[in-house]
Amino acid sequence: MTRDVRYALIGLGNIGRNLLDIIIHRQEAIAADYGLRFVLVGAADSSGAALSADGLDGADIRDSKQAGLGVAGISGVGRPGMSALEMLESAGAELLVDASPTNLQTGEPGLSCQRWALQHGLHVVAANKGPLVLHYQELTEQAHRQGVRLSFSGTVAGGLPTVNIGVRDLAGSGVTRIEGIFNGTTNYILSCMLEDEVSYDEALRGAQRVGIAEADPTLDVDGWDAANKLVIIANSVLRRPTTLSDLEVEGIRKIRLADLQAAQKAGQAIKLLAVAERQGDDYALSVRPTTLPADHILARTGRWDMAVVYYTDYMGVISAVIEEKGPVPTSAAVLRDMINVYVAG
Ligand SMILES: NC(=O)c1ccc[n+]([C@@H]2O[C@H](COP(=O)([O-])OP(=O)(O)OC[C@H]3O[C@@H](n4cnc5c(N)ncnc54)[C@H](OP(=O)(O)O)[C@@H]3O)[C@@H](O)[C@H]2O)c1
Repeated sequence: MTRDVRYALIGLGNIGRNLLDIIIHRQEAIAADYGLRFVLVGAADSSGAALSADGLDGADIRDSKQAGLGVAGISGVGRPGMSALEMLESAGAELLVDASPTNLQTGEPGLSCQRWALQHGLHVVAANKGPLVLHYQELTEQAHRQGVRLSFSGTVAGGLPTVNIGVRDLAGSGVTRIEGIFNGTTNYILSCMLEDEVSYDEALRGAQRVGIAEADPTLDVDGWDAANKLVIIANSVLRRPTTLSDLEVEGIRKIRLADLQAAQKAGQAIKLLAVAERQGDDYALSVRPTTLPADHILARTGRWDMAVVYYTDYMGVISAVIEEKGPVPTSAAVLRDMINVYVAG
């Protein structure tokens, strides 16, 4: 017996499109393994929305987006100018997937949609960090009040199960320290500088050429993307109400090739680390370039890797590393959350 899950999707960029693609390719396995069939009843991008109570054609939307067309232009189902929130209000979905842009000023358009969804008893799966970084407590309390799930395992290092290990698999153990390489762009740049013997500027240009760095790399290279992820981890894993202002943040702009080479000569490596360190009853939270012994698991990460290490009081030291060469693992993490809403305890 297969259960239909009617879901609405906001954001049809890298993450949304690849999610549609994975669901198309995996739908039979998902039905066989979990008894679930995901039915897309509403979708929104910057052009407007598309709605169908019978289910939209995911392949049609994916292909239209790949051809550079807005979802509002799709014949019969497109709704030009309809906002994501208006789409959600009409879609009749039981699950919202938020893959809209991370907006750290207002959280929009994702915030209003997540709020509406949680207030109306929908589960929410987010790849978008903005609403969580700005309003974690409010959103999780609302989800708890309504008895629905708010899942966001793709927000911290894409496919790496950073959140899931911390929230689920360390249950009952205390966390004394967390070290993370949560930002792929900066790890790529630092790795390239050392391996290819190039300056910071050259490595940044190379990262932009391969598409791992944005045209404006500020959020990544100044440490704020990693900081946003540490805010989510501090709130969810450490249960510490945390905002960006609680963190000390320094990026990698000042790192020179000579610094990396000197560290290497001394049997060390410099990485941009997000760290939570237990101090008494609280945690000190920071993002900064950090010198590690060369045999430390985070020192050994390659240019495409992200990683986390949890130091616990009863469960030893648990590490996880992901090699992530594009957005697909984050889309797969979104699908993981969608499935786990229905099958995980
Ligand atoms: N890419 C990654 O590897 C990665 C990893 C982890 C988390 N994330 C997060 O996942 C989210 C999506 O990332 P992405 O790489 O897919 O971004 P993206 O390629 O820039 O796509 C963003 C999508 O949101 C749509 N959008 C923009 N304004 C909108 C609005 N007002 N209402 C509805 N839709 C709107 C865009 O519409 P158009 O298509 O019309 O432009 C586009 O489809 C972001 O929050 C990002 O931080 C991404």
